[in-house]
Amino acid sequence: MSAPQPRSLKSHELIAPTDIADWVWVNLSRGADRHSHPFHLLTMATVSPDGRPAARIMTNRGADRVTGRMWFYTRLDTPKVADLRARHLVCFIGYDPDNGVQVRFSGSATLHQHGPLADEHWQHVSDVSRWLFHLSPEQSAAAVGIDPRLPRDHELLAKGLTARSRAQFVVLEVAVETIDWHQTDGAHQRRAVMHGKDGWRALKVE
Ligand SMILES: Cc1cc2nc3c(=O)[nH]c(=O)nc-3n(C[C@H](O)[C@H](O)[C@H](O)COP(=O)(O)O)c2cc1C
Repeated sequence: MSAPQPRSLKSHELIAPTDIADWVWVNLSRGADRHSHPFHLLTMATVSPDGRPAARIMTNRGADRVTGRMWFYTRLDTPKVADLRARHLVCFIGYDPDNGVQVRFSGSATLHQHGPLADEHWQHVSDVSRWLFHLSPEQSAAAVGIDPRLPRDHELLAKGLTARSRAQFVVLEVAVETIDWHQTDGAHQRRAVMHGKDGWRALKVE
């Protein structure tokens, strides 16, 4: 029996180790800007206060190689917030089927409910929501494509302006420490690990 092939693999070339860090950060950043990018949705794993593993899909809201930071939004009343208050360590995973690439990264998360960072993200969401709210549901559905950080649903956009929503809004800032790369073209594998403290230099694993 042959090994399973990654779905719609187009590239048959494994990415050179010297290009891996650039590829990862460019694509994590694109994932925040485009709904259709495979890294727009990432799976985040935490440990719950009773020690059990927990995982869920999160929408990528931004990535910056220079600071090694990524940003996500959530609500204060969700179980993941209790997980992160008990243990701030997180692990994320994403998969790009066209390139056969799995990216796994880990680090620590800080919750921003108040303060300039949360205000800045909320301001962005509410400014654009306010504009979209004056459009018809059809127009707003089309316009939301402009900014993937916004909810797609017209009603949610309207609710997004309420003080209650702001009170529940939390920015999850992740300081990425380690990135683990695994690429396969169906016949070959390449694994590498990169640490922020080493300037994301890819160290070959196998
Ligand atoms: C496509 C998709 C995108 C999602 N994006 C987010 C997100 O950005 N933030 C978030 O808190 N939950 C998001 N969720 C919901 C979470 O996956 C999860 O169900 C919810 O937040 C509760 O998680 P918890 O019980 O682990 O706290 C998303 C779910 C789907 C299906």
